[in-house]
Amino acid sequence: MRITIFGSGYVGLVTGACLADVGHDVVCADVDEQKVARLQAGDVPIFEPGLENLVRQNQKAGRLTFTTDIAEAVSFGILQFIAVGTPSDEDGSADLRHVLEVAKSIGRHMTEYRIIVDKSTVPVGTASKVGRAVAAELDERGVALEFDVCSNPEFLKEGAAIEDFSRGSRIVVGTDSERVKFAMRECYGPYNRQQEKLMFMSVRSAELTKYAANAMLATKISFINEIANLAERLGADVEEVRRGIGSDPRIGYHFIYPGCGYGGSCFPKDVKALAHTAKQAGYPAEMIHAVERINARQKSKLFEKLCLAFDGKLAGKTIALWGLSFKPDTDDMREAPSRELMEALWQAGARVQAYDPEASDECRRLYGNRDDLMLAERREEVLEGAHALVVCTEWKAFRTIDFERLRDTLLAPVLIDGRNLYQPDTVKAAGLGYYAIGRGDSIQPVLA
Ligand code: UDX
Repeated sequence: MRITIFGSGYVGLVTGACLADVGHDVVCADVDEQKVARLQAGDVPIFEPGLENLVRQNQKAGRLTFTTDIAEAVSFGILQFIAVGTPSDEDGSADLRHVLEVAKSIGRHMTEYRIIVDKSTVPVGTASKVGRAVAAELDERGVALEFDVCSNPEFLKEGAAIEDFSRGSRIVVGTDSERVKFAMRECYGPYNRQQEKLMFMSVRSAELTKYAANAMLATKISFINEIANLAERLGADVEEVRRGIGSDPRIGYHFIYPGCGYGGSCFPKDVKALAHTAKQAGYPAEMIHAVERINARQKSKLFEKLCLAFDGKLAGKTIALWGLSFKPDTDDMREAPSRELMEALWQAGARVQAYDPEASDECRRLYGNRDDLMLAERREEVLEGAHALVVCTEWKAFRTIDFERLRDTLLAPVLIDGRNLYQPDTVKAAGLGYYAIGRGDSIQPVLA
């Protein structure tokens, strides 16, 4: 099948490479000439395990090409995926500028029937807007051509995107057209062999499904963080509570880990956009607002704990930080809790020494060279001369620490664990002040 994908960002690239890998002929189009030139040379500009290999293999096999020629891209595929970015507008709504720009280009260049597939995360009602944008261009050209618009949201996790694309739990398609259903069956056939994963539904339901999925997951996290905050005040250990509730299969063990707040490109943006959609619809979506508020509060917890540990005297202190990305296995720092912490520490006059297995370059790009930030290549380096260590991201390599050595290296024996990675008894036995999330400890100020 011939497939065109607009947008060679995260979602577009993964979709293009995975569809080419099962034998489709895929053209990825992007307006960014530099990006396309890099991709043509087999250089993938984002960090995603397995993606570069997949891109290169399929380029070599001639099934995956990159172009800036929009007319050529429109004439190539019967399926025209829109996978461009939908950043947040100032009011929290999703900015559809790029999506509608692509829709217009399709209307401007198409010469025969096309199926336009909304892959980008877009608010309910976008497919109709896309349809109107295409129709307006066709009108302008004075041509009458048939086309369909369907919604096919993605459910990819950064760091596991290829796995999620190939072995995800469902493929949601919003359409009422039999022709679209037939084409989408052919497109996803190779990924739909073991069990029926295709779910056809109305366009609006598909659009809302994506937001509902992310809002539900964000709610689970904010819920357990709320319980964690309560556990701290009540002298309970949220990790025990988490296991206690997770054992009920109706609740489950997955995706209910307390921490220093969710980040990334999806949850914060999509929860905000859903709140905005609700407002527009005149519905006071109280739970969605609460999820956002709890997360905002949670992201400031690590700084608050440091303030308590150092009795508010953070000026002149050096804080070591492990983990900059919003989660492990990515270099993405969008909305990462580490950023909130670093910015608060700088504001308070403290220095930061940070280590991350992948995100140092991204951190440098975001904050540039500054005297109060040192980025190191090895995790031990950032401990030298530091008063305390804060763990922001649960990279696998952080799971084991020589706590005695840590105590001897730090200027004050304080370990703040934003991801509940360690056993409190073991850390405390080594003579470190250990403060995690929701584990019932009152923080003892240290002199340093
Ligand atoms: C998410 C969704 O999982 C995915 O389906 C959607 O398509 C895009 O958004 P992603 O943002 O890549 O994917 O990361 P995810 O692994 O879901 O983690 C999101 C955030 O939640 C991270 O900051 C993570 O640290 C946090 N989290 C996750 C928790 O705090 N506790 C958990 O139990 C799980």
